Amino acid sequence: DDMEKGTYPHYMLKEIDEQPYVIRKIIQEYTDSTHRLKIDEKISKAIQQADRIYIIAAGTSYHAGLVGKQLIEKLAEVPVEVHIASEFSYNMPLLSENPFFIFISQSGETADSRAVLVQTKALGYPALTITNVPGSTLSREADYTLLLHAGPEIAVASTKAYSAQIAVIAILANDLAEQKGCNISFDLDHEMSLVANAIEMLASQKEEIESIAASIFHKSRNAFFIGRGIDYFVMQEAALKLKEISYIQAEGFAGGELKHGTIALIEEGTPVIALATQENVNLSVRGNVQEVAARGANTCIVSMKGLNKSGDAIVLPEVHELLTPLVSVIPMQLLAYYAALHRNCDVDKPRNLAKSVTVE
Ligand code: G6P
Repeated sequence: DDMEKGTYPHYMLKEIDEQPYVIRKIIQEYTDSTHRLKIDEKISKAIQQADRIYIIAAGTSYHAGLVGKQLIEKLAEVPVEVHIASEFSYNMPLLSENPFFIFISQSGETADSRAVLVQTKALGYPALTITNVPGSTLSREADYTLLLHAGPEIAVASTKAYSAQIAVIAILANDLAEQKGCNISFDLDHEMSLVANAIEMLASQKEEIESIAASIFHKSRNAFFIGRGIDYFVMQEAALKLKEISYIQAEGFAGGELKHGTIALIEEGTPVIALATQENVNLSVRGNVQEVAARGANTCIVSMKGLNKSGDAIVLPEVHELLTPLVSVIPMQLLAYYAALHRNCDVDKPRNLAKSVTVE
């Protein structure tokens, strides 16, 4: 056990640090003989038959799916719906004429996701599983598989699998876009290597992030994570990380929605972490920060270089606007880790949670 952890006190920290390597490994695994990032042609052909993609997942994988929807819709211009597996299985929405299902599951064993796969297979719909575990149930039972190549993830709180899922979907989206002849304005290969470097840079700022975590979450019972657009999706994952391992009640909110209810919860000292990586919503999200700060919130802004202002707590190295989740999630994972550590929580094995939930 200790041997595998090496010099790390916890698997979670080790797995956070592995993320640049995982991104590079994915680039390597998905580069074809013509030096292009590609997925299996059978898969992209099958997806091209579809008029709509349905992403089904649970927990952190569901959050990766929310980011995945943005990538696929913006790059490949195919409509995508993202559903929580346990909801979909009991309340199937009206489906399009030619749906294609994508199951995202680190373990490939989540019972809620499998229940949906059984249903959609019975209806005759094609399915792809994106998983870290070759030969897992969801991989065996779907028509197609894309592997994450993230190496075993041991900590219950998922970190590197989330990044790997987003990276693989980015490759899928880029490939679909190329097949369809969509206008792609970027070189994904190059942009992903910049991402790997950016993650490395952030992972070297642990002391700084630890002291932010210590001051902002000190004795707090709750915390709010706000963002807009793709940042809102990352903040839902940020909140999940914090609650899973530190037991601080945390929620991710869309910045603009705060005033419609949640702002009532803001008291003197309530921690509000805000993420600003997107130019079109940068000022709006900063406006939301001012609204909560005026009501006593203890605010902390994480922003992308270029959009940053003095006083921002963490500045992220600049990467392509569609790939920011791969970078912005890193400080969120580290904030959760250090908050849990300072509360003496069992970081790798939080109470009441299982790494893989194989019962409904
Ligand atoms: C469990 C884990 C979560 C994970 C979820 C989905 O609840 O504790 O970390 O995100 O299952 O797991 P999967 O293996 O399907 O991605």
